[in-house]
Amino acid sequence: IEDPKFSISDPNTISILKEAVELLKEDNVIAIPTETVYGLASNALSLNSIKKIYAVKDRPTDNPLIVHVSSLKMLRTLLPKNDDNVGEIPEIYEQIIKKFWPGPLTILLPKSLLIPSEVTCSLPTVAVRFPSHPITRALISLCEFPLAAPSANTSGKPSPTLASHVFTDLNGKIPLIIDGGQCNFGVESTVFDAIGSHGPVILRPGGITFEALYKMPGMENLRVYKKDFFDKELEMNPTTPGMKYRHYSPDAKVILVEIDDKDKSRDVMDREIEKIRKNGKMTIGILATGTSYISSKEKNENNKSLSQGIIEYTLGDSMHPEQIAKELFKGLRHLDECNVDCIIVEGISEKEEGLAVMNRLRKSASRIINE
Ligand code: TXA
Ligand code: MG
Repeated sequence: IEDPKFSISDPNTISILKEAVELLKEDNVIAIPTETVYGLASNALSLNSIKKIYAVKDRPTDNPLIVHVSSLKMLRTLLPKNDDNVGEIPEIYEQIIKKFWPGPLTILLPKSLLIPSEVTCSLPTVAVRFPSHPITRALISLCEFPLAAPSANTSGKPSPTLASHVFTDLNGKIPLIIDGGQCNFGVESTVFDAIGSHGPVILRPGGITFEALYKMPGMENLRVYKKDFFDKELEMNPTTPGMKYRHYSPDAKVILVEIDDKDKSRDVMDREIEKIRKNGKMTIGILATGTSYISSKEKNENNKSLSQGIIEYTLGDSMHPEQIAKELFKGLRHLDECNVDCIIVEGISEKEEGLAVMNRLRKSASRIINE
């Protein structure tokens, strides 16, 4: 592997990578770790491979895929050629690529004929990302072709951040899952469009924050789609399919409590728990952000009963949204495995990674309580 920025020397890893390359060359779909979430990867330039991705995931065919590259050289081969016969990266992305790649940022670029229209669902743009995970990078550079990879969950479920999550969803459907441990970011990449007529826009908040992108040259007017503006055109296109489809949903019903004041938020949770219990014997899961709900109730004799029969998973401290992002899907999936009937989640502020966390939580929730 001739990339000076990383080196993989473990013989087991190398042999698994070789096996993976063989499978990918034969148009198979395999699961790979990335720094965001696990991906369901296949040759982005092969129509046969692409069709398999949609089939394995049971993904709606109007939801386009992200193409993963392992170098700028590879990226240029995918772009429409200029007069000098070179694939040109739009200038607006230059500094941004320098700063954030490799990493959890996906950018929209003009699509060339090399990429099957099934990848982009016939859109004129293609979403591209240069991941930083050493295994992903090594794999793509060994393949010598880009990999299309959506998140490796069954459509609608929370994205996988552990190899075991992929196994739960796709066991028997794919020939290989590469286990790279827990994903570091835990939410998907930021999908960013700086070439559309609407000016620079974050279509999906993710691992690279609004605050980080906003600091870059030419980004004074950066907006977040759906938060800062809404566009009928955009909504009609599959550019924000997450809005159209049920997403990030565990089997249990999710109730999101979005109340800034922690004491008030906990009072609302008490009320909800009592209400749910009145309606029958339900197992309740709590995804806590901050101090443990259970231990706060156990401190007080009068409140003790509230904590009984509750299964709690602490996502982390709300002052560290990056921790919460990392644990979010793992927590949702964990409570599902515990067979809870409903999950009460405490929201956090939309600052930094909090924006991506709240975006995912609002999509997974069947009810949002904000007063
Ligand atoms: O972090 C990630 O991005 C992960 C890992 C595996 O790389 N992948 C991922 O893929 O989240 P997926 O398929 O779950 O989400 C891709 C998102 C979708 O919301 C899709 O609509 C958007 O990217 N997308 C893809 N192509 C697009 C395009 N041409 N225009 C606008 N949005 C696009
Ligand atoms: Mg996905």
